[in-house]
Amino acid sequence: MNKELILVTGGTGYIGSHTVVELQNAGYDVVIVDNLYNSNIEVLDGIEQITGKRPHFEEADCADPIAMRHLFEKYQGISGIINFAASKAVGESMQRPIMYYRNNLNTLMNLLDLMEEYSVKGIVFSSSCTVYGEPDVNPVTEESPIKKATSPYGNTKQICEEIITDVINAGASFKSVILRYFNPIGAHPSAEIGELPNGVPQNLIPYLTQTAIGIRKELSVFGDDYDTPDGSCIRDFINVVDLAKAHVIAIRRMLEDKSESKIEIFNLGTGIGLSVKELIASFERATGVKVPHKIVGRRAGDIEKVWANPSHANNVLGWKAEISIDDTMRSAWAWQCRLREKGIM
Ligand code: UD1
Repeated sequence: MNKELILVTGGTGYIGSHTVVELQNAGYDVVIVDNLYNSNIEVLDGIEQITGKRPHFEEADCADPIAMRHLFEKYQGISGIINFAASKAVGESMQRPIMYYRNNLNTLMNLLDLMEEYSVKGIVFSSSCTVYGEPDVNPVTEESPIKKATSPYGNTKQICEEIITDVINAGASFKSVILRYFNPIGAHPSAEIGELPNGVPQNLIPYLTQTAIGIRKELSVFGDDYDTPDGSCIRDFINVVDLAKAHVIAIRRMLEDKSESKIEIFNLGTGIGLSVKELIASFERATGVKVPHKIVGRRAGDIEKVWANPSHANNVLGWKAEISIDDTMRSAWAWQCRLREKGIM
């Protein structure tokens, strides 16, 4: 049994918590560090329910170098890091750019500094398809051009990728795998963990499930005059459990010295573009629950269409998105219903 210790920053968040489950299922020990700014301590109960094991947990801000040094002193022998800790709302980043740069960049730089000192072998970095902007050609490969970011949030992802590249090119002792996620959705099939946005959701699926359960009156579809078959935007919606599994493969690859180079970049998507209207239809088909919705104007800053070519991850990592969109929709709905049962929403 593998008992290497993995530090998961932002591990009580949406993608982080699903990844902790997969890491523990694969036999890794996990320490989570999270400041609980956008997540909840009860997530640890959900992880324990699913895996039978409670991860170590430290409440701290990863952008705070002193707190992070304490953590590395306390947990000697961290083998690898998966860095989810980041602010992630596009709109909020337009209002509070300094907060985004401070949080996202300082967190990464603190980790990279400490990795060298404490001989950590590798870091998985959460990046995003946002780095491709509005692509000229779909599907996008890892070689597709990086476009100027349209938000401070997107810019932090680009800058963080550059920081990692510069640090590794300068001779760092560790490796990195950069994962560019498309649109993560759904929840763990147990409905013990899922996405829990604060306040009014900005993202499509939480807004949709909250509408389906009656918390919101209707879902607004932002634009149906795009140059797409049904006029609504197209995205590559990837199940969060599929996504989480890719992180286990990525960290193992670095720890077992299987990386082909010191920095590797992978798109994580299904390879299938679905429109917003198609997604609503698939939710209704999979769950039998209607989603009241109306067409409204476009949302500023939205990309018209983007989906992944995931061949590189398929071939090199041996990873492939496996969970169907209907199962994903059912998992999102089961999670929303669980939140209702628990009286959370
Ligand atoms: C954005 C970011 C992405 C980030 C993600 C999570 C960009 C280009 N993308 O993805 O990097 O990781 O947020 O914060 O910056 N929609 C509606 N009604 C709604 C909500 C959304 O019609 O109430 C539509 C949007 O117009 C879009 C699609 O649904 O076409 C998906 O939107 P959303 O879930 O917010 O994700 P992105 O904007 O694609």
